[in-house]
Amino acid sequence: MTPRPVIIDCDPGTDDAIALWLALASPEIDVRVVTVVGGNVGLAATLANARAVVGLTGKTVPVVGGSGRALLAPFEDAAYVHGDNGLGGLILPEGPPAAPGLAADAIRGALRAAPPRSMTLIGLGPATNLGLVFAIEPALADNVAEIVLMTGALGEGNVTPSAEFNAWNDPEALDILLTCGAPVTLATLDVTNQALCRPKHIAALRAASRGACASAAATIWDSVAPSRRSGEEGHEQHDACAVAWVVAPHLFTHAEVAARVDCSQGIGRGRTVIDRWGRKPRVPNARFLDRLDADGFFALVIERLARLP
Ligand code: RIB
Ligand code: CA
Repeated sequence: MTPRPVIIDCDPGTDDAIALWLALASPEIDVRVVTVVGGNVGLAATLANARAVVGLTGKTVPVVGGSGRALLAPFEDAAYVHGDNGLGGLILPEGPPAAPGLAADAIRGALRAAPPRSMTLIGLGPATNLGLVFAIEPALADNVAEIVLMTGALGEGNVTPSAEFNAWNDPEALDILLTCGAPVTLATLDVTNQALCRPKHIAALRAASRGACASAAATIWDSVAPSRRSGEEGHEQHDACAVAWVVAPHLFTHAEVAARVDCSQGIGRGRTVIDRWGRKPRVPNARFLDRLDADGFFALVIERLARLP
């Protein structure tokens, strides 16, 4: 099977780190470039973290920095979840230098060179870098196979009652992606809330491998507090769900939906408005990931991370 060419845009971020390691360990995908956006913590830290996470695998995937703010406003970080350094306090060896240039330009260059409907974009942070691509060069949507986003929520958000963190931080950029014409798949809080990392998973990962990446991942998993949303049963592996969809779609059920995002400045800002049941005669513009085989998900994550050095 020919690996799918993929570009990953991220804001590492504890869960981004796990998602990156899952992607880099999976032969089903060929990670062409990792681009970085601010979000969970400031861009300087997310870029350093992405370099370190990729560097720990020994793979020579270029890491390119991008936007340190949203289209209309500064980001609001989530250091309260990810720690001040963005990796729950874990200190990794410094990774290779970032590749020159800017994320949106790197993605545009890769898309311009790609055949039609060939490149998969995976967005794990605020959508600013990805949104800029199609704001500047909308025709590049023709070369996109799928845009897979960890973003949004059918129901309650996790930053405000309305908005999930990535959508909250740049709803305008997200709206550009939802309307750019490329196929969009949404890994919202509704599916990521099913990917709860529990102590048994940390123990299983430690038992599976003593490699640097698996050990670092276990340390990160140990560092994140259980979420109140889960009744303190565990903490959600948000971003790895987006990667797992590309690597192992059989783990999910899904539905075609009409999805937009509230870009008002009111209390609904950043809310993804997802018509799950076709209430209005709207043309579906996104795939909504619905149910997750959580046991299969963690078996995949652990097995793949154990392959890394
Ligand atoms: O709401 C969860 C999302 O916001 C995840 O991508 C997490 O890393 C943060 O970016
Ligand atoms: Ca993220």
